Amino acid sequence: MSKIKTDVVVLGAGPAGYVCAIRAADLGKKVVCVEFDNLGGTCLNVGCIPSKALISAGHFLESTRHAATMGFTVEPPQLDVQKLIAWKEGIVKRLTGGIGLLFKNRNIEWVKGKGRILSPNKIEVETADGKVEIECLDIVVATGSAPAPIPGFDFCEQVWSSTEALAPQELPKRLFVIGGGVIGMELGMFYAQVGTEVTVVEFMDQILPGVDPELVKVVQRKAKKTGMKIHLNSAAKSWKKTADGVEVIAEINGKPQTFHADAILLTVGRKPVTADIGLENVGVKPDARGFISVNDQCCTKTPHVYAVGDATHGMMLAHKGSAQGLAAAGAICRRPGNAYDPKVVPGVIYTDPEIATTGLSEAECKERGIKVKIGRFNFGANGRAMSMQATDGLVKVIADANDDTILGVHMVGPNVTDMIAEGSLAIEAGLSVEDIVLTIHAHPTLSEVFMEACEDVHSMSPHAMKK
Ligand code: NAI
Repeated sequence: MSKIKTDVVVLGAGPAGYVCAIRAADLGKKVVCVEFDNLGGTCLNVGCIPSKALISAGHFLESTRHAATMGFTVEPPQLDVQKLIAWKEGIVKRLTGGIGLLFKNRNIEWVKGKGRILSPNKIEVETADGKVEIECLDIVVATGSAPAPIPGFDFCEQVWSSTEALAPQELPKRLFVIGGGVIGMELGMFYAQVGTEVTVVEFMDQILPGVDPELVKVVQRKAKKTGMKIHLNSAAKSWKKTADGVEVIAEINGKPQTFHADAILLTVGRKPVTADIGLENVGVKPDARGFISVNDQCCTKTPHVYAVGDATHGMMLAHKGSAQGLAAAGAICRRPGNAYDPKVVPGVIYTDPEIATTGLSEAECKERGIKVKIGRFNFGANGRAMSMQATDGLVKVIADANDDTILGVHMVGPNVTDMIAEGSLAIEAGLSVEDIVLTIHAHPTLSEVFMEACEDVHSMSPHAMKK
């Protein structure tokens, strides 16, 4: 057995783990990162990045359908799925290779294998060349999450998780999606845009539960226009193979109904990967759902054992994991003020149109008894959106009724996943709607919609009809 001595071991190289490793190295620590798969975790390999590549392709195809309005004559484009997948994999390779270079550049050692914690300062790694024992001062658990199955729907050739949906051999003619959450709607819309008949069954009374219903309405309308069939208050019960695909029995509003499809995409959430990594050897017990509890410095109740990313409580988002990774590295290196604060964690959903939210929702303000004033502005009244043929959507700004402080920003429309950063900064900095209104926004840009929504909090938008 070979032995390594280091300062910090990071278990997992997703956006939480690799960012933590890099920051700890930059702060002067000797770092080893243990990862059995490619560097980059779910996000880079089988999540955010590949899905956005496919979604961009879907948007491109969709835009060609509106080309005639601009005067173009376009033959319906033909899609070569193998080429699309190869292009997507090229992007993934470039990014994951980039992490390898960043590691080398900082002398971070990547031990490729499955790691298991033996004690607060010892980890054993099963590599292709045998066992490696690593002695360290601090451990960071960044083992991420995996798709959650439901009874009767184990993942197999016919029952896909997002991973299989991101690398199809060919496009299914019919796809049955279980779960109208973030992944179900993002990938469901991609498949619908490239010509697959998509049916979604969602347990709750709206798709994208938890998102402001005003925003969801816009996406649901577009989904219907794209040909998606969405069944709310419904659940899949069982499935079987047939000669030409699968048969699914689902309960639609309490009544059983049979559906036929080529494949099932199961997207009912993800579960943390915290079993069988030796947490019991350091006195850390995940909760009943598998999440690890940590303090604001991402330390577990055992000193020198940290946890970051999807393995911990909170939103399962790459940028939340990275922020925790930075906090943990700061804490390990005794840099004060490096705590993770979840007050402003933006959420971005790559449906068509996109959704982006930050801060409190209207419903959360109501629950907390906060009196609010709300401003709205539609992309339909914005010149830049018109020139992009992307006028569906709105920006909704929620401000504290007492002092106009911006509490929440909720957007649905073109490029809002980029625009939301201004809303996050406003909340983080404690800005008021007046601060945004007095900030000159360039014309013609989509960002004017945020400014106008802030104006609308006091019914002062010059481009809105008087109420
Ligand atoms: P999710 O939690 O977003 O959605 C799961 C949906 O399935 C929910 O709407 C739920 O009501 C429904 N559901 C649960 N059981 C069901 C059943 N038996 N039948 C029908 N519907 C059922 O989970 P999802 O989409 O799998 O995503 C997993 C995680 O990944 C989420 O935490 C999400 O935030 C994250 N993610 C974030 C992305 C982004 O930021 N753009 C992209 C992709 C994933």
